[in-house]
Amino acid sequence: MKVLDANKGEFDDDISIRPSKLDEYVGQTDIKENIRIFIKACQMRDEVLDHVLLYGPPGLGKTTLAHIIANELGSNLKTASGPSIEKSGDLAAVLSSLEPGDVLFIDEIHRMPRYIEEILYPAMEDFELDIVIPSADGTSRNIKIDLPPFTLVGATTRAGDISSPLRDRFGIVSKLNYYSVDELYEIIKRTSRVLEMPITDEAARELANRSRKTPRIANRLFKRVRDFALVLGINEIDMETTKMALKRLNVDDSGLDAIDIEYLESLIMKFNGGPVGVETIATSIGEEVTTIEDVVEPYLLQEGFIKRTPRGRIATDKSYKHLNISKEEK
Ligand SMILES: Nc1ncnc2c1ncn2[C@@H]1O[C@H](COP(=O)(O)OP(=O)(O)OP(=O)(O)O)[C@@H](O)[C@H]1O
Ligand SMILES: [Mg+2]
Repeated sequence: MKVLDANKGEFDDDISIRPSKLDEYVGQTDIKENIRIFIKACQMRDEVLDHVLLYGPPGLGKTTLAHIIANELGSNLKTASGPSIEKSGDLAAVLSSLEPGDVLFIDEIHRMPRYIEEILYPAMEDFELDIVIPSADGTSRNIKIDLPPFTLVGATTRAGDISSPLRDRFGIVSKLNYYSVDELYEIIKRTSRVLEMPITDEAARELANRSRKTPRIANRLFKRVRDFALVLGINEIDMETTKMALKRLNVDDSGLDAIDIEYLESLIMKFNGGPVGVETIATSIGEEVTTIEDVVEPYLLQEGFIKRTPRGRIATDKSYKHLNISKEEK
C-alpha cells in the first residue's frame, strides 16, 4: 500500500535525488549517528529496530529518513498515512500484511483518530493485533492475532498533537532541525550531480542561502533555476541565471517567500505588529491555520522574525527592518 500526497508531487527526479543511504543523508548528524548505532545494535542482537518517531517542519527529510532506515536494515518498507486510515479495519489490514522485520512507515501519524491509534498500542508493544468480532446475537468477542516483529516509523510535523500513550511507545524519538547553509550547499551540489546539470559554487551558495533552511525547497529552487538555464541555453547554472530566476520566483534575499512576506506585512500593517492570534492572521491572508502553524511560522520563529506570546504573535524589529518599515511610520 503506498499513499502519495499529490501536493508533494513525487516525480522521477524527486525519487532520484532522494538519498537512499545514511552516508548520503546530509546533516542531522546526531540523529544519523544515533540511528546508525541503534541499527547496528539491533542487528547484533538479531532483533528488530525499536519504533522510531520523527518530527519536525515539512521538507526536512522525515520521509527520506524512513526510507533510509528500511534500506539500511535491508528490510521492506510499507507505507501508510494517518489521514488515509479511516477505519480500524484499514490499520488491521496493513498490520496483518507485515512480514517479519518489515518497516511500517506511517506518515502524518498525528492525523490518525484516537480509536484507531489504540490498535497500535498492543501491536507496537507485544506484536499483537486485538480485534473485536461482532456476533449475530449482538455480543462481540475479542481475538488476538500474533504479528511478526516489525519496526514502526512514524512521522509528524506536529509532535504536540500526538497523544502521550502513542508517543511513549516509540523507543527512539528524533526531532529534525533546520539545515545550515553549508549543508544545503552540499545537498544542492549533490542534486546537481544526480540531475547532471552543473552549477557554479557561487550560485549553489546563493541558492542555499535562499532555501528557507529546507532541503525540499533547495531542490525545488534548483529545479526551477535549471528550467531557466535550459531554456536560455546555459550549460552551467551561474549566479546571473540564479538571481534572475529567484527574482521571477518571488524568493527574496533571505529566502522568505510570498506567503512569509504576506504574513509579516499583515502582522505589521493590519495588526500593528501584534500581539494577534494566529486565526486572525490566517483569515487576513486567506491561508489555512494549519499551513501557517506548520509551514510558515516555524521558520519565522526560528529566524527571529516573529515571537509567540500568550497573547498572540508579535513582529520583531528584524521584521520591520526586513520590510523596510519604521515603527513610527505605523
Ligand atoms: N538530509 C538530507 N540530505 C539530502 N537530501 C535531503 C535530506 N533531507 C531531505 N532531502 C531532500 O528533500 C526532499 C524532502 O524531504 P522529505 O520528503 O523526506 O521531507 P519530509 O520531512 O518528509 O516532509 P513532509 O513533512 O512534508 O512530509 C527529499 O526528497 C530529499 O530529496
Ligand atoms: Mg514526508
